[in-house]
Amino acid sequence: MTEGGATPAVVLWEDAALDALGARGMQAFSMADAYRDMVAKTGLDLSATIRLLDALPVFLSGTVHKQQRRDMAVAYAAGKTEQEAAVLQFFDQLRGRMAGQTGTWDVLAELAHPIWDTLRRTILPGKEPWYDLIDQLPDLFNPKTSLRKRVKLNDQLTQMLQGEAPDFLNRLSLVVLGARPLTHSLALSVHALAQAHPGCRLRDIPVPDSFPDSALRFVDRVAGQSDTANGCPYHAGERVRCVTFDESYDPAWNARNLYGLGAHVCLGRPISQFIWQQVQGLFAQSDKIIFPDVIEIENREPFRLAAVCKVRLCDG
Ligand code: HEM
Repeated sequence: MTEGGATPAVVLWEDAALDALGARGMQAFSMADAYRDMVAKTGLDLSATIRLLDALPVFLSGTVHKQQRRDMAVAYAAGKTEQEAAVLQFFDQLRGRMAGQTGTWDVLAELAHPIWDTLRRTILPGKEPWYDLIDQLPDLFNPKTSLRKRVKLNDQLTQMLQGEAPDFLNRLSLVVLGARPLTHSLALSVHALAQAHPGCRLRDIPVPDSFPDSALRFVDRVAGQSDTANGCPYHAGERVRCVTFDESYDPAWNARNLYGLGAHVCLGRPISQFIWQQVQGLFAQSDKIIFPDVIEIENREPFRLAAVCKVRLCDG
């Protein structure tokens, strides 16, 4: 993931990307340090943002990363049964709603946002007044976010964190890292299936075992030493962008690397796979015919978001 201003010196694809991710001395990009530099330059108070970024494992390395990842894994595991039950209930209700549905089906409004809302409620129950803010926090990673917006988010985050126990930060971190990858990979993937199989009955579509599209297609690292990755040179201190998912890659390759790899592999993989299995089930049991409708993509680094995502459903 990335931050304001800095751009990668090297972009690596396919095997070179995997080589680099497994290379000795590769460090996570420290987003908190980038914000500390911003504070040094501007004198602004961004302390709540820095506190959050210091708790996000994607931006941490070494033993600090291991410890934080372990704490978050505990926070995640505590709610697993409840999360799966909530997801199953959501899909049961969705099946009923879809049965009577024809015409435009808004994939974001009907599927992707509500399933994320279902999950978020189990991770951060009772925090509804803060959900709008929480949904915007991933904009802190986007290099194009204005300083004004960063300050506004920081001020609201300061209020939200007041009086919260440390465990809250772990659960908040899960939600901040999971929201956009899950919501938008889901929307993009359903649309991709409609595009690949226009006019097909849902039950006849060979839905792959993993999301066919992803909202998070690269991860950034900083090289600890100069080296080459599959013949591509990079130098110590350089920011290296590793493209882990792309439509030019083999689908099996994409499926293998969808959730990243190595020390930072996604903590939300089990619940995301569980959700995708429910999508498979939904398709397998439906006679509806699907057509692609409008899709609009918005690049909000590091995420590729579906700003609009619709398909059409007809009775089969
Ligand atoms: C289809 C859905 C998802 C995709 C494609 C996805 C993708 C990824 C990728 C590629 C990484 C590695 C980042 C890196 O190496 O820098 C990652 C890390 C992570 N993801 Fe996901 N993710 C998804 C869903 C979720 C969900 C639902 C959650 C939380 C509930 C979540 C939580 C995390 C966390 C905490 C990490 C950081 C792990 C670490 O740095 O040790 N993800 N994800």
